[in-house]
Amino acid sequence: MLGGGRSSEHEVSLNSAAAVSEGLHKAGHEVVEIRIERGGEWTLNGGPVSVIPGGGLAGRRAGSPAGGDPGSDLGVEVVFPVLHGPFGEDGVTQGTLDTAGIAYVGSDVLGSAVCMDKLTLKALCGFHGVPQVDFVQALTPGWKERAAQLEYPLWVKPSRLGSSVGITRVDRPAPGSGDQDGLDEAVAAAAAHDPRVIIEANSPGREVECSLLGNEDPETSLPGEILADAEWYDFEAKYTDGRMNLVVPAPIGEDRVAELRQMAAAVFRLAGCSGLARCDFFVEEDGQVLLNEINTIPGFTATSVYSKLWEASGLAYPELCDRLVKLALERRQAESGHTF
Ligand SMILES: Nc1ncnc2c1ncn2[C@@H]1O[C@H](COP(=O)(O)OP(=O)(O)O)[C@@H](O)[C@H]1O
Ligand SMILES: [Mg+2]
Repeated sequence: MLGGGRSSEHEVSLNSAAAVSEGLHKAGHEVVEIRIERGGEWTLNGGPVSVIPGGGLAGRRAGSPAGGDPGSDLGVEVVFPVLHGPFGEDGVTQGTLDTAGIAYVGSDVLGSAVCMDKLTLKALCGFHGVPQVDFVQALTPGWKERAAQLEYPLWVKPSRLGSSVGITRVDRPAPGSGDQDGLDEAVAAAAAHDPRVIIEANSPGREVECSLLGNEDPETSLPGEILADAEWYDFEAKYTDGRMNLVVPAPIGEDRVAELRQMAAAVFRLAGCSGLARCDFFVEEDGQVLLNEINTIPGFTATSVYSKLWEASGLAYPELCDRLVKLALERRQAESGHTF
């Protein structure tokens, strides 16, 4: 179990990690709880954890004497990264685990990186004809002219972050107010988190999310609609109890449900995901389903959307955690047949 991490979602990750740890215990697994501190150090029982290229992870087991001892091979069979955002969900940690030669839950370096970067995911999915809102990469030549063509309000976001951090909604400026539409300010706010900034057209649609589980041929959960007690699904609405209502199945009609589940699986495959993901959509009044984003390590407490959707689809939390460990081992097995 790897929890914490260097991103602004450190706390969120620790909550998810504690829950997954409990789920794994319930499913009969022995769990070693490694924490990534805000500064990036990996720790276990207050001591350092080292990554041994090709040799797994070393650290101090509970109960072993403290002191200068760097610890020994932890004999970890599968790592379950429960990390959100940069360094944890974007392929960096996954690459580290590949270097150590350990099986891990979830997407590999490529899938993680592609899904973390909203600009890259949208370019890839757009190329393959997946419907989505129009977008522009800010701070590239001609971006202002192109952004002016988008449907307002605009959504300005750091390309590689999550939990709604750094996102601003920008309303169309009143006539005659010149350039005072807050767009520059919003872009600067997003760029403070990530030099890659995306500007999206608005979708007035319902927010509907679908959980995925599997490797090459992922299963999809019943989709659920997010009803946030807020103007939009911001950080507060995401993490304050009672500020969000999840309606499962989303009231969008059986045909739309089937279409959305197919789209979720298609995006999962296109992006090269493994194990788990939560794919988020906008469903518009006329029934059009638009991709918003896909998260390779979604919030993962027992009451998070990812888990709730599986529960509503008949898969209990400990079983879900257990399935993910098995999927990691299966992927490892499949990859061991590859030649480099
Ligand atoms: N293009 C858009 N149209 C309408 N609402 C949006 C749009 N983009 C984002 N939002 C609102 O902002 C929230 C967070 O945006 P999202 O792209 O999902 O970022 P994050 O990765 O931080 O979750 C969405 O859940 C939605 O409420
Ligand atoms: Mg989101």
